[in-house]
Amino acid sequence: MPNVVILGAQWGDEGKGKIVDLLTERADAVARFQGGHNAGHTLVVGGQKTVLHLLPSGALRDGVECLIGNGVVVHIGQLLKEIGKLEERGADLRARLLVSPACPLILPHHAALDAARERGPSAIGTTGRGIGPAYEDKAARRALRAGDLLRPKHFTARLKELCDYHNRALQDFYEAEPVAYEDALEQTLGQAKHVAELIGDVSAKLCELRAQNKSVLFEGAQGMLLDIDHGTYPFVTSSNTTAAAAAAGAGIGPLDLDYVLGVSKAYATRVGAGPMPTELHDQTGELLGERGAEFGATTGRPRRCGWFDAVALRRCRQVCGLSALGVTKLDVLDGLDTIKICTAYRHRGANLELPPYGAEALAECEPVYEELDGWAQPSGGIRELEKLPENARRYLERVSELCDLPVDIVSTGAERSDTITVKHPFAPA
Ligand code: GDP
Ligand code: IMO
Ligand code: MG
Repeated sequence: MPNVVILGAQWGDEGKGKIVDLLTERADAVARFQGGHNAGHTLVVGGQKTVLHLLPSGALRDGVECLIGNGVVVHIGQLLKEIGKLEERGADLRARLLVSPACPLILPHHAALDAARERGPSAIGTTGRGIGPAYEDKAARRALRAGDLLRPKHFTARLKELCDYHNRALQDFYEAEPVAYEDALEQTLGQAKHVAELIGDVSAKLCELRAQNKSVLFEGAQGMLLDIDHGTYPFVTSSNTTAAAAAAGAGIGPLDLDYVLGVSKAYATRVGAGPMPTELHDQTGELLGERGAEFGATTGRPRRCGWFDAVALRRCRQVCGLSALGVTKLDVLDGLDTIKICTAYRHRGANLELPPYGAEALAECEPVYEELDGWAQPSGGIRELEKLPENARRYLERVSELCDLPVDIVSTGAERSDTITVKHPFAPA
């Protein structure tokens, strides 16, 4: 049975959580491999909405193992909060949750640094969760990691060093309040006893599952255009959001990834700063935002809306080696007279098939559009491809052609079951 990667093909919030939750029906485990609680993944089951930030979207299914790989930056308080909420609803989560000892921890000074930087001229509209500073500590080889929670003496000493180090930057450079070491210690080590039993070898677990022929979903956070290398740098997150990160961030070999689904909305959204070539500053943009309820699941900020961008999608296909697309929120386009798709960028007199690297060059790009007829009949809630309005099917076909990818999944509503599965990722090739 395959290892399947589900990742965001745009700027995040594509509906990854919904798709992962749906597919866990046939999965044995779900693994997160990058990002942290900057993610907000919405699951709607029987009308009940659950937003997960750190827990894998297999959390709602009894018996599905939930793995948090080494590539994820973990805020222990947030983890416990999410576990607690699901336990209140009767989920047996602890028995099936495993957190890698190699996960860097998000500590109180990370959020303080994030906030301090966002007050400056180089603000990029982060989620304020301390993600960037936590990954900086990882790369600088000074992070405290989940496994360190099991060695309290060592943890206490290292935390003091880290607090002193970061407080210097907070006070002297950013003129911000320092983080009290005692508070940081209480918030982290105080919680350690509640997570100690959850810490274990995720890589070994995944290899074991592979050997047993089990199916695993690797759940991406954010989206490919927020990737630290290939995204719209510097307006990106601080991790690799691409398919290869699933291997590195969970602890398996790249040849053990069998299928990669790029999830994309039928239009485009972005939250935070940075270029977005197809952004609409008109009534249609507002309409998409209203109909799509486009407010961030983590920060509540309104999302910027625009047309589907096939150019950006091609970069995702290339960098992630996508097997297929999952197109979500098709229903939000219902009733529009015409719908545009960006097929190329006009940049300094040339037509580009792929986005240029870097935010400055991308900001200079003008979208070249193709216009398609919309559809009057609703697509919301439809679960069979043949039942979609003809023009909605045509739209999907055109998206598929322009991205040179099959559309294997179509989502027509927030509810788990409002989905068309053209080809199931776990189906044999
Ligand atoms: P994620 O971060 O990729 O998991 O996506 P979010 O949960 O942040 O944002 C997606 C939003 O769209 C959530 O509110 C979902 O409930 C909702 N959603 C997902 N699929 C569909 C769909 O097909 N139609 C509609 N109308 N809403 C959807
Ligand atoms: P999910 O998993 C959408 C954006 C922020 C900001 C940039 C950097 O729900 O799709 P960070 O806090 O990561 O340092 O912020 O990335 N961002 C997201 N946008 N969905 C997300 O996650 C995001 N996580 C971060 O808005 O522009
Ligand atoms: Mg989200």
